[in-house]
Amino acid sequence: MTRVIAIANEKGGVAKTTTALSLGGALVALGYRVLLVDLDPQANLSLAMGCESHAGTKSFINLVMENLNLERALVKTEIQGLYLLPANKEIRFAERVLPIRPEYRTLLRNIIAQEKSYDFVLIDCPPFIGTLTTNALTAANLLIIPTQAEYFSVYALRNMMSLIREVRSKGNPALRYRLLVTLFDKRNRIHRTLYSHLRQTFIGGVLDSIIEVDTKLRESVIAGVPINHLAGKSRAAMQYDFLAQEIIQYVKE
Ligand SMILES: Nc1ncnc2c1ncn2[C@@H]1O[C@H](COP(=O)(O)OP(=O)(O)OP(=O)(O)O)[C@@H](O)[C@H]1O
Ligand SMILES: [Mg+2]
Repeated sequence: MTRVIAIANEKGGVAKTTTALSLGGALVALGYRVLLVDLDPQANLSLAMGCESHAGTKSFINLVMENLNLERALVKTEIQGLYLLPANKEIRFAERVLPIRPEYRTLLRNIIAQEKSYDFVLIDCPPFIGTLTTNALTAANLLIIPTQAEYFSVYALRNMMSLIREVRSKGNPALRYRLLVTLFDKRNRIHRTLYSHLRQTFIGGVLDSIIEVDTKLRESVIAGVPINHLAGKSRAAMQYDFLAQEIIQYVKE
């Protein structure tokens, strides 16, 4: 059974893309087949993996507009068991052209359902709330919201909570969410305070896994590989592995 996980936050730079790549790598290392879906017009994930610039790259929007099968757009990565549905420049038009269609919220869900061989589908969302993010959340069993333990990041969660309510009432009543604290610096008093504030506010809604600041993660996105392929023994690799195990446990329950 395929588990679909959307990774979204309208706040930019909170490690959505980094988490998609390195959680994907950690799940593959544990023996699962993983599809990464890049829904961001910035195409950071696709660029990192070296496939945005190829002529003929198809993205979610091309599959919809040209009525193509998911298979037509899939890219096999250098890592066995890890696949990518890339983004390209055209994907930005989704915000304008899709909402005029009836049932536009379920387009991605229907595309993902065409291929049943994946254990996990991880969707990297753009840093804004719109049609693309709504499609991701409507397709998802679980939403991971990466967030920094910073004042404005915590504030931005309000909008994510209203989006979750909207998606639940319009087509995906079973959507669950979990916050993931990223870019954490345990020597920083504000980080520690806001982290306990988050745990008190979102009782049970915060993952036990925390991703601390680690420059190796910057290098891994540049190299276009998950952290466990770049620096398998680093703290960040261990933390993403712990996250993968927590997600697997969560899915089993
Ligand atoms: N734990 C970490 N430690 C250090 N740097 C990190 C960590 N996680 C992510 N970064 C860096 O922070 C920056 C933002 O990360 P990333 O691109 O994953 O965020 P994003 O939420 O996808 O951003 P956007 O909203 O633009 O899509 C990148 O330069 C990335 O390499
Ligand atoms: Mg990103």
